[in-house]
Amino acid sequence: MTTIKLTDEERQFLIDLADEARRRAYAPYSRYRVGAALRTTSGRVFTGVNVENAAYPTGMCAERTAVFKAVSEGEREFEVIAVVTDNGGSPCGACRQVLAEFGLDTVVLIGDGEKKLLKEMTVAELLPGAFTPKDLVTPE
Ligand code: THU
Repeated sequence: MTTIKLTDEERQFLIDLADEARRRAYAPYSRYRVGAALRTTSGRVFTGVNVENAAYPTGMCAERTAVFKAVSEGEREFEVIAVVTDNGGSPCGACRQVLAEFGLDTVVLIGDGEKKLLKEMTVAELLPGAFTPKDLVTPE
């Protein structure tokens, strides 16, 4: 897959959806609310939020929630994911790895609490030297 070209309207639409999703974040412990909106090649959009837990490590990030929702609905080809937080934080290492599994060309849009696009990059740029399914192929 090649990197998708986006219009400003498409970018803002996904940032807005991610921000709207963010309101549904369950983050009573960190109070750091994260929303994501993932668009697949079929044009469907899957949102995700972070879901925390009293047993802290069992919580889940917004980006992975969105990816897992998409995959469990039969979608594996991603074009772009928008991630919105108050301060424009970027995806954690685990989320970068999960995104890398499904394509290094997926575009990542980072937005802030004002719904402003702060950064745009690919998963390859976010996770240079990613371990991917190709790395598991071993010679006979
Ligand atoms: N979080 C995300 O949802 N995505 C990230 O990529 C970074 C961190 C969440 C996890 C936790 O609920 C809160 O933000 C604080 O780490």
